[in-house]
Amino acid sequence: MIKVYREKDYAAMSRRAADIIAAEIILRPDCILGLATGSTPIGTYENLVEKYQAGELDFAKVRTFNLDEYVGLTPDNDQSYHYFMKDHLFSHVNIDMDNTHVPDGAAADLDAACKAYDAAMIAAGGTDIQLLGLGQNGHVGFNEPADAFPTGTHIVELTQSTIEANSRLFDDISEVPTRAITMGIMNIFLAKKILLVANGPKKADAVKKMLYGPVTPDVPASILQLHPDVTVVVDEEALPEMK
Ligand code: GLP
Repeated sequence: MIKVYREKDYAAMSRRAADIIAAEIILRPDCILGLATGSTPIGTYENLVEKYQAGELDFAKVRTFNLDEYVGLTPDNDQSYHYFMKDHLFSHVNIDMDNTHVPDGAAADLDAACKAYDAAMIAAGGTDIQLLGLGQNGHVGFNEPADAFPTGTHIVELTQSTIEANSRLFDDISEVPTRAITMGIMNIFLAKKILLVANGPKKADAVKKMLYGPVTPDVPASILQLHPDVTVVVDEEALPEMK
C-alpha cells in the first residue's frame, strides 16, 4: 500500500519527511533508521538536526543503515556517502558512530563486504523505517534498471544516466565512480516502513511509473507497490497530476 503526500514545494516535502522520521524516533528511541543520500533528503536531515537542536529528538540509542556507497571512495573523501552522512546528519546530532553503518565501498574484498552488510542487517532485524530517494531512471539506492530485481547487498555498474545525473556533484564527470555497493531489494523490504522522497520536474516520470506503472525491474522503485507500508512524499512538480 502506498500513501502519497503531495506537498507544495521542497521545503514542505522536507518538513513532512522529517516529521515522519521524528515520530519514529520519539516512539522508539532505539529505532533503526535506513538512510539515503543524494540531494533530495538534505532538507529532511536539516529539519531533523533542527529538531535535535530544539531538544525534541535524542539520537543516543538510534541505529542506522545507509543504502549505498561508491566503490573506491574512502570515508574521508568528500564525495563519499560516509562523508555526506557525517556532513548532513551524524556530526550534528548525538548519535553514537558505532551505531551507524554505511556499506564499505573501499573494502579490499567487496563480496565479503556485501555479505557482511546483509548479515548485519538481518541480525538487526531490518530497519524500522527506510528513507529512499529516487533516481531519474527509477532507481532506488543504486538498484539500476535491470532484467531482474537484485536481492541482497551487491556491486553495481552505474548506468550512464546515473553517472551524468550525479556528475553535478563532482568537479568533472570523469571523477564519478562507475561502480557502487548498494542494498538490494531484500534489504529495503526488510524495513517495516518505507519513506520515499522526490521533488522537481526531473523526477516526475519516475514517480508516475513507480506509483502507477507495472511492477518491473526496468523501474526498480515500482516494486515498492508490493511493500505493505510505503509513504511517498513529493512536491507538486514531481507529481503534476494525481491519478
Ligand atoms: C543517487 C543515490 C540514490 C538517490 C539518487 C537521487 O544515485 N544512490 O540513493 O536517490 O541519487 O539523487 P538526488 O536526490 O540527488 O536526485
